[in-house]
Amino acid sequence: MSGIEAEGLSKRFGTLTAVDRLSFEVKPGEIFGLLGPNGSGKTTTVRLLSCLIAPSEGSARVAGFDIGREPLKVREAVGVLTENPGIYDRLSAVENMEFFAEAYGLRDRAERDSRIRELLEFFDLWDRRGERVGTFSKGMKQKLAIAKAVVHRPEVLFLDEPSSGLDPKAAKDIRDLMEGMSRQERHTIVLCTHNLEEAERLCSRVMIIRKGAAIATGSVEDLRRKLHGAPELEVVLDEVDDRLLRATAKLEGVKAVNASAKGTLVYDLDDPEARTPDVVRSLVQAGGRVRSVNILRPSLEDAYLELTEGEST
Ligand SMILES: Nc1ncnc2c1ncn2[C@@H]1O[C@H](COP(=O)(O)OP(=O)(O)OP(=O)(O)O)[C@@H](O)[C@H]1O
Ligand SMILES: [Mg+2]
Repeated sequence: MSGIEAEGLSKRFGTLTAVDRLSFEVKPGEIFGLLGPNGSGKTTTVRLLSCLIAPSEGSARVAGFDIGREPLKVREAVGVLTENPGIYDRLSAVENMEFFAEAYGLRDRAERDSRIRELLEFFDLWDRRGERVGTFSKGMKQKLAIAKAVVHRPEVLFLDEPSSGLDPKAAKDIRDLMEGMSRQERHTIVLCTHNLEEAERLCSRVMIIRKGAAIATGSVEDLRRKLHGAPELEVVLDEVDDRLLRATAKLEGVKAVNASAKGTLVYDLDDPEARTPDVVRSLVQAGGRVRSVNILRPSLEDAYLELTEGEST
């Protein structure tokens, strides 16, 4: 299984540079998040890497093939869900799946039929398989478009906002599908999303782009570290009094302590993981009744908002 290597990838539309010298690597089996404001070039990047459009400059290897020299091989090896679902309204769900399965070279009829049934059942579409897709709801069409994108078990899968328009159960189904494909079957997945919680949960690494250029690449943990704020320790107690504050304010590693909401102490520690046990022990010894202990970390959303601050695209 192979992933993606992009080198100086650029795409211009007239005078507009939609993708600006992107270089990055996606490792085999990884779920890689592509994040960025509206119009920042995510969909264009996916279209370049899946050979739906040609780059103005730069090169990339996808699933072991060169996008410039072997576009047909790339197209066979990848699955794509773009903003335009590309399914046929006049065909039924099952006819759509058969059409794409055949186009992707799934020749064995029994195998093809069982794969189609497996996917339509997975997405709760099996009972509606004979109906024309034109009559489907938005979310049903989206689920069918995802089923279509994975029918041939592609080595590299591009999902451009897969959970947009989906209900919570369907959104979870898609996440489970992605995790299964990545962990068990070692497929490589590029996920474009505005849902930062979803990205945080699924992606081993993310790249944030703005105006077509990468502004940050790394694990969610790496991006958090780029932020100024370190994690804090929050301890919720039945009651807070001066005695508890005094018992912990001078402990080693405690830089500051504040009583925030009623019954809550927030500690600024040099190393929250290492210092938490001592803080909690001291609170208990001083008579504190501890209800909960949390380490508060900046979220991917905090990191994203800080990194993309100031400009809309
Ligand atoms: N075919 C095209 N012709 C001209 N300009 C285009 C074309 N496709 C995309 N663009 C422009 O390229 C830029 C990037 O668009 P793109 O669709 O890649 O953004 P995106 O990051 O996917 O945004 P969104 O989050 O809104 O989906 C935009 O300014 C867009 O108008
Ligand atoms: Mg887009």
